[in-house]
Amino acid sequence: MSEKITDYSDYEYKKIFWEKGDRRYEDFCDHLALRRLLPKRGEKLLDVCGGFGRLADVYLPRFTDCTLFDYAQKMLDLAKSAHGEKLKTAQGSVYALPFANGKFDAVSMVRAAHHLADLPAAVAEIARVLKPGGRAVIEIANKRNILEILRWCCGRSKMRPFSLEPASRNARGFYNFHPRYAEKIFAQNNLRIKKALGVSNFRLPVLKKIFGAPLLCFKEKLVQGLSGRLKLSPSVYYLLEKK
Ligand SMILES: C[S@@+](CC[C@H](N)C(=O)[O-])C[C@H]1O[C@@H](n2cnc3c(N)ncnc32)[C@H](O)[C@@H]1O
Repeated sequence: MSEKITDYSDYEYKKIFWEKGDRRYEDFCDHLALRRLLPKRGEKLLDVCGGFGRLADVYLPRFTDCTLFDYAQKMLDLAKSAHGEKLKTAQGSVYALPFANGKFDAVSMVRAAHHLADLPAAVAEIARVLKPGGRAVIEIANKRNILEILRWCCGRSKMRPFSLEPASRNARGFYNFHPRYAEKIFAQNNLRIKKALGVSNFRLPVLKKIFGAPLLCFKEKLVQGLSGRLKLSPSVYYLLEKK
């Protein structure tokens, strides 16, 4: 495997990003979207690039056999200490998932595509381990979002929001994708789009300051559906079914 991996082994992701960064609004948005898209019940679920198990409270009550998969052992240990025996963990890279073909009823991958230099290879692996008729929820960072379009129009961003190629904002990676680029990859892997939600619609710091997280969460609830049709939000969640 030659792809460079964004390793979270030395990063206090939970403390620095989620707790110190006060991302209650973003955390709410991810939970809401996953709750809305994930099947209400099932047997085997795989959370790919699942980190410290932030979203496990959504899927653990719905699936009888849940596995969190991540490259960083530190994340897996945190997930295990939070959820114990209820949550299985497995270490490795998304580019070579250590699971049999068609093993899972459902797969989720949230806030991870932006780390993946080879999204097609990762989606192919997800499709491989999903059983026919199984569901995947995949989130992508959307390069064609309103703020990025405005920045580009004002000459403040070189990331061309309307071009289909993935774009990276900085040297450390952080890939942003055009929705149509991701949708083409899904189609190539026999993943049919059942629904899309536009997520984190109000994640600007200035909006958080003016309105506060609770009001933004309320507004988010109202717009995710419509925003999923327009696909102009910073994050797009897809519910996919394997043919
Ligand atoms: C931003 S975190 C998101 C974690 C979790 N999905 C969430 O939303 O809280 C990205 C995670 O992807 C993992 N990761 C990055 N590249 C990976 C790869 N190639 N294979 C497996 N995990 C990877 C990192 O270790 C990290 O835990």
